[in-house]
Amino acid sequence: MIPYGRQHITNIELKKVREVMLSNNLTQGKLTPIFEKKLSQYTKSKYAVASNSGTSALHISCLSLGLKKNDIVWTSPNSFIASANCAEYCEAKIDFVDIDYKTGNMSIELLEEKLIYAKKKKLLPKILIPVHFGGHPTDQKKIWELSKKYNFKILEDASHSLGAKNKNENVGSCKYSDITVFSFHPVKSITTAEGGASTTNSKIIYEKLLKYRAHGVTQGDYKYKGFYCSYFQDSLGYNYRLSDVHSAIGIGQIENIKKILKKRKEICQRYISAFKGSNIEPINESKNIESSNHLFVIRPKKTISKFFTNNSINYLRKKGIGVNCHYFPIHLQPYYRNKGFKIGLFKNAEKHAKFSVSIPVFVSLKKNIQDNVIGILLEYYNNI
Ligand SMILES: Cc1ncc(COP(=O)(O)O)c(C=O)c1O
Repeated sequence: MIPYGRQHITNIELKKVREVMLSNNLTQGKLTPIFEKKLSQYTKSKYAVASNSGTSALHISCLSLGLKKNDIVWTSPNSFIASANCAEYCEAKIDFVDIDYKTGNMSIELLEEKLIYAKKKKLLPKILIPVHFGGHPTDQKKIWELSKKYNFKILEDASHSLGAKNKNENVGSCKYSDITVFSFHPVKSITTAEGGASTTNSKIIYEKLLKYRAHGVTQGDYKYKGFYCSYFQDSLGYNYRLSDVHSAIGIGQIENIKKILKKRKEICQRYISAFKGSNIEPINESKNIESSNHLFVIRPKKTISKFFTNNSINYLRKKGIGVNCHYFPIHLQPYYRNKGFKIGLFKNAEKHAKFSVSIPVFVSLKKNIQDNVIGILLEYYNNI
């Protein structure tokens, strides 16, 4: 089975991992700060805090933005469940803003409509979590302008989009957001096996992220009534640290990111040319955007039941193509349906989920294999 995504590891990462494995510090050494520095330089943000997953980075980012019980968070229903679960961890209330069918990203028009309504009902969100679906960044400037008008914080879920740019602005620069979160799961632009990071330009947020990542403690001599401790805890945090072994992989990966992104782009361009004039419609990129090409999502032009995602996935997997669906709408997961979310609430996300499949994009995908994939897809989707 050809997977829809996989990591690209070179001898550089293998060498770095070997070195750290033989060193004194498997964790809490100097490699995680080095990786963080490289991330903040690459994204052009002031600070980066690495975590042991994108999910834990989302969790501590919500906490660092002051998310509390019963606060409201909005995100996109067309995302991985972690974009919503992070609000649940804080006992906040989650709601969704439907997507723009063309791009798969949160619709700015529907966001504005929902904000107008929520203001009247006094139900405005404390945090908005836009998701850069498939690596295509959302229009952060417009969202930022809305955040000033309606007073909410922005946490970008850029799990898909390290390396993407919007009008020459690097995703992760936080020019138009409070925090940006990345995931380094193996299918993403770069990997640390498991891992994630939050970038920000605020020193206050940065210090909170560090504290929540490490048990709620601050390092330093702490003396109390004749006792001594080398750290002190004044809040509740977690152990979400990224080990030096994982950071060693990340350092090798980020040093190679230019090549990784170039190759992913070439593969996507080949798909775009091959599908011209066929019944296959790739998800559309908006103007002035440089995607990280995390996913290549296709939908049929003719939306007939033969092409329901479950039918297409069954057929294509039998043919050896490991296609996947991004995403089963979060609000239709049993956990969220139990909270009262119903089918029909976010129609664009539902239509998208019913007809879309993600096809293979990864650095080691050979041209002849991609040609086979293209042939099978054209035969299936053009045979109406
Ligand atoms: C949009 C999105 N958000 C959050 C996450 C969570 O990241 P991780 O798997 O690193 O915890 C993912 C990972 O798949 C994702 O795709």
